[in-house]
Amino acid sequence: MGSESLWYKDAIIYELHVKTFFDSNQNGYGDFPGLTQKLDYLQVLGINCIWLMPFYKTPLKDDGYDISDYEEISPEYGTMKDFKNFVKEAHRRDIKIIIELVLNHTSDQHPWFQEARSSRASKKRDFYVWNDDPQKYNQAKIIFSDTEKSNWTYDPLSGQYYWHRFFSHQPDLNFDNPEVQQAMINVLTFWLNTGVDGFRLDAVPYLFEQEGTNCENLPQTHVYLKKLRAELDKKFKNKIFLAEANQWPADVRPYLGNGDECHMAFHFPLMPRIFMAIRKEDNTPILEIMRQTPVIPDNCQWALFLRNHDELTLEMVTQEERDYMHKEYAQDPKAILNLGIRRRLAPLMNNGRRQMELLNSLLFSLPGTPVIYYGDEIGMGDNIFLGDRNGVRTPMQWDGNRNAGFSTVEADKLYAPLIIDPVYGYQSINVEAQSMTQSSFLNWTKRMIRVRRNFKVFGRGNIEFLQHKNPKILAYTRAYENETLLIVNNLSRYVQPVQLDLKRYNGWEPLELWGNVKLPPVGELPYFLTLGPHSFYWFRLDKH
Ligand code: NOJ
Repeated sequence: MGSESLWYKDAIIYELHVKTFFDSNQNGYGDFPGLTQKLDYLQVLGINCIWLMPFYKTPLKDDGYDISDYEEISPEYGTMKDFKNFVKEAHRRDIKIIIELVLNHTSDQHPWFQEARSSRASKKRDFYVWNDDPQKYNQAKIIFSDTEKSNWTYDPLSGQYYWHRFFSHQPDLNFDNPEVQQAMINVLTFWLNTGVDGFRLDAVPYLFEQEGTNCENLPQTHVYLKKLRAELDKKFKNKIFLAEANQWPADVRPYLGNGDECHMAFHFPLMPRIFMAIRKEDNTPILEIMRQTPVIPDNCQWALFLRNHDELTLEMVTQEERDYMHKEYAQDPKAILNLGIRRRLAPLMNNGRRQMELLNSLLFSLPGTPVIYYGDEIGMGDNIFLGDRNGVRTPMQWDGNRNAGFSTVEADKLYAPLIIDPVYGYQSINVEAQSMTQSSFLNWTKRMIRVRRNFKVFGRGNIEFLQHKNPKILAYTRAYENETLLIVNNLSRYVQPVQLDLKRYNGWEPLELWGNVKLPPVGELPYFLTLGPHSFYWFRLDKH
């Protein structure tokens, strides 16, 4: 298989909502012409793939995950011409574009739903899931537990309940209906024709329902996804699917099929365990979940992340672990949303620079493709008073001028208020200031991306965890073809020693990758290292 077809293994993905990035026409919303202007920034940062949150026509009750027309761009964000130009300009800079394919549900404003509810005899009735009894499928959990009491909502117009796994304004499509299956294939083809490189498959475990099950990960889902994948491969080359399946590793594994379903899947259970490991100063949470992580097909890849546009979800942990996370990371109860925590990376780390660096070392050196959430590269803050998940979706902070350089409208017209608190406010945390300061977090992030991009092993290599006696240290080797790395992370806030058994690299020389500094060669005896608080080393092991 050609290297180009595996591009997603070498990618560094940057997630953003077009609305949040740059407002070029003074309407208070970021737009495609604005985002296009900021591509140079992203190119210099070093990322090579952008994942866009939904930008389709929407009543905006779930930030665009409530779609009322799959083939129209929401007018605040520009036109189709603007979008295509953006894709072209991104490609010119070797940046790929992944967009959202929201299969599971539409907005209740979608014409399909409007028609479906207009009469029980409507031709579109069967596009959605209706029932007289709201007890059906009662083993399915409620995901947005803060807002919804049931997965059924009564429609007074047609006198039946409709099924929804998310907000009640987001009716689930009925994938048992072949017309729905085909309609979504048409949507896929429509967007492939615009030149995009891939799709994040939103909420993919919930496509089908079946009595007596929890209505997640059903076999029918995999049959349909394989069909969708065949469509993806039919006319186009090197396009990918990234599954959003917030599930245990064993249940995520089938979404990759035999390399014939999704190319990538997010590793949801790893994410909270990275946060647990650093706070507990203990490598166990990471080692345990990695032990449970199955081998995946050669042409597949994990997508790793620390934060994204949602709350830090805590579905894939035990109740005890969830309590621990809440106690440690959500002292203010307002920070809790559904089961998770609605905070950005920097506030979660109490703005601790070394902690932020360490978490990024893990994100960038564990096996998979890293996904950075916009703004986290400058350590942006959040606003837990904004409701729902809006507090982590505030305008990008470009400079210390009016509206953080995001827009020139009056502040009241911005889609969301800027962060203005003394620690994270845009006067102190912004791209311009950090570009001018050599030691800034932005420059540090750029450097990390550059180091990673020099080696294929990060995205493609295997991993072996090294056994040693200090649980505060997480050490592993990564190997691919003729590249071997040794990664050592200190999860503790104090200095830590570690003795690593590297006998099988006897005579090899470690080269520290950030400074290109050579360390004494490995011998027969355990290799002794001392690490500063929350520090890490990335070594290349060179055979002589
Ligand atoms: C998952 C998305 O990440 C989230 O933002 C959205 O609210 C739900 N799917 C419903 O579409």
